[in-house]
Amino acid sequence: MARKKFIAGNWKLNCLQAEAADLVNGLAQLVQSVQDVDIAVCPPFLSIATVRERVKGTPIKLGAQNAFSVSKDGKSVMSGAYTGEVSPAMLKDAGVEWVILGHSERRQYFGETDAKVNAKIRACYEVGLKPIVCVGELLEERDLGITNSVVEIQVRGCLAGLPAEKVAESVIAYEPVWAIGTGRTATPAQAQEVHAHIRSILVVLYGQSVADQVRIQYGGSMKPDNAKELLAQKDIDGGLIGGASLKAKDFADIILAAR
Ligand code: PGA
Repeated sequence: MARKKFIAGNWKLNCLQAEAADLVNGLAQLVQSVQDVDIAVCPPFLSIATVRERVKGTPIKLGAQNAFSVSKDGKSVMSGAYTGEVSPAMLKDAGVEWVILGHSERRQYFGETDAKVNAKIRACYEVGLKPIVCVGELLEERDLGITNSVVEIQVRGCLAGLPAEKVAESVIAYEPVWAIGTGRTATPAQAQEVHAHIRSILVVLYGQSVADQVRIQYGGSMKPDNAKELLAQKDIDGGLIGGASLKAKDFADIILAAR
């Protein structure tokens, strides 16, 4: 089945307000007429309002890079005594549609686990936010030949107990950690192999029809010059773009490569 390609920009810890405004304004001009590719930008929390004003009337959707929730007494926490956190309900209220969860930088620096990601995804579903769930192996794991099992544990852990109809609308981003911000991209064949594996796990968990709907993005040094070949792979349905999303022209070129 044909899945609409989805290119999302992960701005990470970058862009003051004026820079965020310039970046999104520049991007909006370049992609104004694009309808056949889904597009999102995920600025830092503080720039969300700035960006929201500027994506109105453009094809660009608004995303966030994280959200906080835990399960308490069987319910997802959306407010309360959790200093410094931002809940899915708050993001929804701020006009956000997509949320990146379980990014490897959050796993590496902020103790994110599959169980925590699972609680966050559940909370996002409750308020109608769609997650971009990140998985991917470390270089040592690839060298040991355990990529598929590492990714399988992450996918199963992150999605444990979640309803099929919500999973169908969610996105999984396969991001080999050794390719993130390193300029070292997975080859199209390497990426396709893991993407196909992820889809086969989804078939086991949810059946063929749901597995066919889930979009699986590739992330890790995707650039204008390698995007086309990656995006031509059967199970690569888009990209999660870090560095190259900080330049409007580069990000737009990746979007155009997805057409
Ligand atoms: P990169 O980052 O494109 O800079 O490698 C991708 C990501 O971390 O989502």
